[in-house]
Amino acid sequence: MRIGVSGAAGKLGRAVVADLVRRGGGHEIVGISRSPEKVPTPAEGRLGDYDRPETLAGAYADLDRLLIIPTAELGPGRRAGQTLAAIDAAVAAGVGHIVFTSATGTRAAEEPDLFASYFTAEQRLMQASRHWTILRMNYYAESFIEEAQRSLAGGVLTGLGENKVAFVAREDVAGAAVGILTGEGHEGAIYNATGPASLTGAERAATVAEASGQLIRFVVLPEPALREGLEQVGFPALAIGAVLSIQEKFVLGGFDIVTGDVERLSGRKPQSLQELLAEALAGG
Ligand SMILES: NC(=O)c1ccc[n+]([C@@H]2O[C@H](COP(=O)([O-])OP(=O)(O)OC[C@H]3O[C@@H](n4cnc5c(N)ncnc54)[C@H](OP(=O)(O)O)[C@@H]3O)[C@@H](O)[C@H]2O)c1
Repeated sequence: MRIGVSGAAGKLGRAVVADLVRRGGGHEIVGISRSPEKVPTPAEGRLGDYDRPETLAGAYADLDRLLIIPTAELGPGRRAGQTLAAIDAAVAAGVGHIVFTSATGTRAAEEPDLFASYFTAEQRLMQASRHWTILRMNYYAESFIEEAQRSLAGGVLTGLGENKVAFVAREDVAGAAVGILTGEGHEGAIYNATGPASLTGAERAATVAEASGQLIRFVVLPEPALREGLEQVGFPALAIGAVLSIQEKFVLGGFDIVTGDVERLSGRKPQSLQELLAEALAGG
């Protein structure tokens, strides 16, 4: 099969390409990026820019399967526009099976909600093609680890309320995507790639403390205080909005879901936050 990965030079895309290469199977792998020279070999690099839909017809030509990874664009409506262009181009190119990475807890939402683009894209994909699979991903463990590293000096992890999150390693999302791209029987399925456990704020603070050997606790803050803290450490306005939206989603339980999908699709158990933190914080 010829398998395409759109977003192949990004962190998730690279992990998917590497996993596809590692698993072998005789597939031809095509990595699509605005900078095709950045696509890791032995994948074929092709130019594809979500903001220039005219580039996508060639990028998606002759693919049996395609993974569409949205960008991390934060401007209202930007990511939705890009993803709809990609889905429409993939359908028009006659791609045999389209796989889309979305977010757990996706539901009807309007712009400028950070998660509206995922709902819009899921709906378009279901309406435009019979041959689709959606892989909803939980919150990245790597993003939490970055937050933990920033927070260690102050000894406080913050949130807008009590919440539970089943952090998932990016590599495990990649493994699940590869299982879909190379497997059979996934058409019409919505999977949720999650870590092995959903942790409260206090539980993850304890995990960070154990891995780092430093004291840290979880504290609930009202929105203005959380916003002010982010401003003080220099977060730009769009990024602050994104953090607050994610924190709201945490409180609403959007990421409080544990499934066996990573293991079922990738053939390996998802990594725990404890393991990932121990590795990231080893040696201080
Ligand atoms: N669940 C979570 O916790 C979480 C956290 C962060 C992000 N995400 C989501 O996960 C996905 C990928 O994450 P990641 O870590 O791999 O992000 P990343 O490393 O920032 O990669 C983003 C990719 O978007 C591509 N891109 C940007 N603008 C583009 C355009 N106009 N046309 C085509 N490609 C474009 C970039 O490709 P080139 O520059 O090579 O073209 C890059 O490969 C995104 O959907 C993001 O929103 C989820």
